[in-house]
Amino acid sequence: MAPTDLELVEMARRAAEQAYAPYSGFRVGAAVLTREGDVFTGANVENASYPVSSCAEATVVAYAVAQGNRAIDTVAVACIDARDVEQAYPCGRCRQILAEFDTRRILVSVSDGPWREHTLGELLPHRFRL
Ligand code: THU
Repeated sequence: MAPTDLELVEMARRAAEQAYAPYSGFRVGAAVLTREGDVFTGANVENASYPVSSCAEATVVAYAVAQGNRAIDTVAVACIDARDVEQAYPCGRCRQILAEFDTRRILVSVSDGPWREHTLGELLPHRFRL
């Protein structure tokens, strides 16, 4: 059975605890629900060469796609060190990554409390396409 939104957000929060973020101290987790109903989780993985770092969304989407998935239903993102939900939104690069696999919904959250739900079109209108 597909997870509820609350379950997906909780998975993202748990995934954030596995983040490798010694440079920023900003731990992010993400949980992907594919259109086929499978779930994958990931976290941000930083590097001493800062730009080499991988955001949580990029980590988990690459993982899900490498397992054969091509369409994403929902992505829950949890920034467990964010001061508020405004600081927890996916970066621009990650929005383009989510767009590539037609992500339908994005749930944005911090370490506890309510989350916000958005469509991809709300977060990335006029996405780049070839
Ligand atoms: N980060 C993410 O994992 N996802 C985002 O969408 C924004 C930023 C990570 C990257 C870096 O490890 C840390 O948060 C601080 O920028």
